[in-house]
Amino acid sequence: MYKRISETAEWLKARMTTKPETAIILGTGLGELAKEIEKELVIPYTEIPAFPVSTVEGHAGCLIFGKLGGKDILAMEGRFHYYEGYSMQEVTFPIRVMYELGIKTLLVSNAAGGTNPDYRIGDLMVITDQINFMPENPLRGRNLPQGPRFPDMGHAYDPDLIALADTIAQEKGIEVRHGVYLATQGPTYETPSEYRMFARWGADAVGMSTVPEVIVARHCGIRCFGISIITDLGGHEQITKVTHEDVQKAAAEAQPRMAAIMGEMIARS
Ligand code: HPA
Repeated sequence: MYKRISETAEWLKARMTTKPETAIILGTGLGELAKEIEKELVIPYTEIPAFPVSTVEGHAGCLIFGKLGGKDILAMEGRFHYYEGYSMQEVTFPIRVMYELGIKTLLVSNAAGGTNPDYRIGDLMVITDQINFMPENPLRGRNLPQGPRFPDMGHAYDPDLIALADTIAQEKGIEVRHGVYLATQGPTYETPSEYRMFARWGADAVGMSTVPEVIVARHCGIRCFGISIITDLGGHEQITKVTHEDVQKAAAEAQPRMAAIMGEMIARS
């Protein structure tokens, strides 16, 4: 496994013309930000040795090396979801490669259902912590030399980056929530009872991504920051039917606010 990671990293290093220290996963709601990147090099996942290939609707699938906010960045356009059938090792493979490339900070975005009754569709939630409710931990198995056997998860999401996001949001007059993100394996959205259960467990939002990537990034000592777009609501008196289209629509509407915060964070960090 580690050999494959190193080989992919070496293959990419031989082609890279920049030295990014920040990576961003352009999940649901950050596709637009890809357009703002001054691209130096775009490599489809299909061309990268050992890289998984993304399948889900609305996710393209390429690595972008370029500049955003005057900084070198590495962007993943399209991510790998556990529900697509990938193993946890495949889902998190790009993060391990990023570490080998010298990435120190990881920014992620996702779409999530709000379980906090105060939330509204279109809200942005700065992720302060996470709950792994996926059936597996991506670190299961032989420990890779990138980090310790039993990594601390006390600050899964970096407090300084959260504070920076708050400052930027305030300056720009963008309202953000703070909350806990819980990941399920999907691909079903939750039953009303599941939404209620997750709310009682302390989750403010629930989605199907991000948690494995953040676990592996923390294993490697990469600082993490994430924002969820609340695209639908559960755990409320009235639970409405959730469709993929509703999720895409709410994410598209919130996209400019998310991109404004993320873009400025890259410029300042
Ligand atoms: N549940 C799980 N994943 C999601 C949801 C949800 O309600 N909304 C967007 N992704």
